[in-house]
Amino acid sequence: MTEPKKLYIKTYGCQMNVYDSERMAEALGGEGYVGTDVPEDADMILLNTCHIREKAAEKVYSELGRLKPLKDARPGLKIGVTGCVAQAEGAEIMRRQPLVDLVVGPQSYHRLPAMDAAVRAGGKALDTEFPQADKFTALDARTRANRAPSAFLTVQEGCDKFCAFCVVPYTRGAEASRPAARVLTEAQALVASGVREITLLGQNVNAYDGHPQGLAGLVHDLAAIEGLARIRYTTSHPNDMDAALIAAHGTEPKLMPYLHLPVQSGSDRILKAMARKHTAEHYLRLIERIRAARPDIMLSGDFIVGFPGETEADFQASLDLIREVGYGMAYSFKYSSRPGTPAAEKPQIDEAVMDDRLARVQELITSQQRAAQAAMVGRTVGVLFEKPGRMPGQLTGKSDYLHAVHALADGARIGQVCPVRITSSGPNSLAGEVVS
Ligand code: 5AD
Ligand code: SF4
Repeated sequence: MTEPKKLYIKTYGCQMNVYDSERMAEALGGEGYVGTDVPEDADMILLNTCHIREKAAEKVYSELGRLKPLKDARPGLKIGVTGCVAQAEGAEIMRRQPLVDLVVGPQSYHRLPAMDAAVRAGGKALDTEFPQADKFTALDARTRANRAPSAFLTVQEGCDKFCAFCVVPYTRGAEASRPAARVLTEAQALVASGVREITLLGQNVNAYDGHPQGLAGLVHDLAAIEGLARIRYTTSHPNDMDAALIAAHGTEPKLMPYLHLPVQSGSDRILKAMARKHTAEHYLRLIERIRAARPDIMLSGDFIVGFPGETEADFQASLDLIREVGYGMAYSFKYSSRPGTPAAEKPQIDEAVMDDRLARVQELITSQQRAAQAAMVGRTVGVLFEKPGRMPGQLTGKSDYLHAVHALADGARIGQVCPVRITSSGPNSLAGEVVS
């Protein structure tokens, strides 16, 4: 018997990259690869990359530099760059870093087995096409026997919105949805292998149109799968939040009360310059409707500070919007100029101003996050236990509202949703006691 080849994948960026890494590992599993956590042991190292901000993209090149000694020590080691940097930079990566053997974009990684054969034969392989047929039809079924209780499932990819700051329409391509029947088959396979919670992924997941009733229709069909306890979806665009999806938050008990709904700015002037195609008021009224359907929903958002032209007054409008919404969680970023995007042409804001605004927005967000967590103390919430905690006898999992929760509990409860009374709130997690 030949020794299995070892595959090490390092994943950067969003949850969709986490999902893609799993699918790449499964695709290469058919070529005799098994996963390893030790890069020094690997026969193939893939960096599954993110291009969203400059820093994320630069990390790839520094990581590649660090891999050089490994390649020198093991000439048989093949190194690949996958994901959004691969898509955006293509052959430039091999020019800048000759140790790279293969480059494959997010829409063509189903061709990895053939590319592996090509690099094993001593060549280089590059594929950054957007093929007509969706890659999922070419990938194998999800057959792994044992999985963690919580899984991602990509149902939609790409973006037609063209926000002025964003590379996603260029790296992931046009909006495309997977047919509902295929999603359901994949979900059933995941549940059969131990999954209890599925997070549906898409760059604009609520623009999903692979079901006649859109994402709400898909959620209802998935909810009918016995053994599936929880459904989440991310990331949504405010303009695609339709009435059926809002209503589903009130009527579908398996749909969890947490929604990531980025707005990016609270200033209409900046929203217009960002080409977001909605106003702050539109967003706030939308939040009202969602809260009317599900009053306890936990909201999360993304904010960019220092977009070209952002004044102190514009920035204050973002802070005002954050105060008005009251987020359970939010992410904030300094604007990062991305090559090829419309905003990259505009005069940039001073770095020190951006740093100052980032610190101020993060302070506000952190205080809201702490308050939302503290408000959980004394309440009993459902927790899906996922794995052993750091302390002996402890398990860790996620609440309905996506808080990390630790509690003393028997290992047999991994994979179960248990009622937990929250007893204290730490900086990034809650602690509680299982009620029954
Ligand atoms: N600069 C800074 N942040 C960005 N994001 C997307 N593009 C940029 C950029 N050029 C942020 C947005 C988005 C999140 C995934 O990343 O807030 O919602
Ligand atoms: Fe990064 Fe966006 Fe690509 Fe995800 S889709 S890896 S966030 S650039």
